[in-house]
Amino acid sequence: MPLFLAMIAVVVALPMAAAALALAGFVGAASVSALAAALLLTMFGFGLHTTRRGKFLVWAEILDSLRLRGDERALDGGCGRGAVLTMVAERLPRGRAVGIDIWSKRDQSGNSAEAAEHNLAAEGVRERCELLTGEMRSMPFPDASFDLIVSSLGTKPGPPK
Ligand SMILES: C[S@@+](CC[C@H](N)C(=O)[O-])C[C@H]1O[C@@H](n2cnc3c(N)ncnc32)[C@H](O)[C@@H]1O
Repeated sequence: MPLFLAMIAVVVALPMAAAALALAGFVGAASVSALAAALLLTMFGFGLHTTRRGKFLVWAEILDSLRLRGDERALDGGCGRGAVLTMVAERLPRGRAVGIDIWSKRDQSGNSAEAAEHNLAAEGVRERCELLTGEMRSMPFPDASFDLIVSSLGTKPGPPK
C-alpha cells in the first residue's frame, strides 16, 4: 500500500512539475517531466487493469479451457484473499477447493484467512472451500490429493517465510 500511495504521489507530482517548469521557461525539462508522467500513468493504468479486471479474464479463460466436470478437488497455492480460489470453486459445484496461504500482508494488502473467508462467503462458495494456514513449499497433503492445482502469483524464490 505505501508503494501504491508513493506511485500516486509521483503520478500527480510529475505533471505539476512539468507545468511549473514550462511556466518558468524550462521547456526541455518540462517535456521530460511530461513524458515521464505519461509513461507512469500508462503503467499505472495497465497495473490497475491487470489487478481489477485482466487477471480475472485470463483466469476465466484458463479455467474454462480445462473443461472441468465439476466434482474435482482443487488446490490454490497462495490463495490470498481468494480471487482465484473463488473462480475455481464456482466451477466445482460438486467438488472441493482448498486454499493454502501464509497470509503475508506484504504480498497482498488486507491479507488474512478472515478476508478470504468473507470473500468466499460473499460469492456463495464458502461451503465447498477449505482454507489452510501453511507454507506451500511443505504442504501437508498426501500425494495425488488433488485433480487440479492453481497458483496466481503465489510464491517467490527464497527460503520459506
Ligand atoms: C501476490 S499475492 C496473490 C494472491 C492471490 N493468489 C491472488 O491472485 O489474488 C501472493 C500470495 O501468496 C502467499 N504466499 C507467498 N509465499 C507463500 C508460501 N511460500 N506459502 C504459502 N503462501 C504464500 C501470500 O501470502 C499471498 O497471499
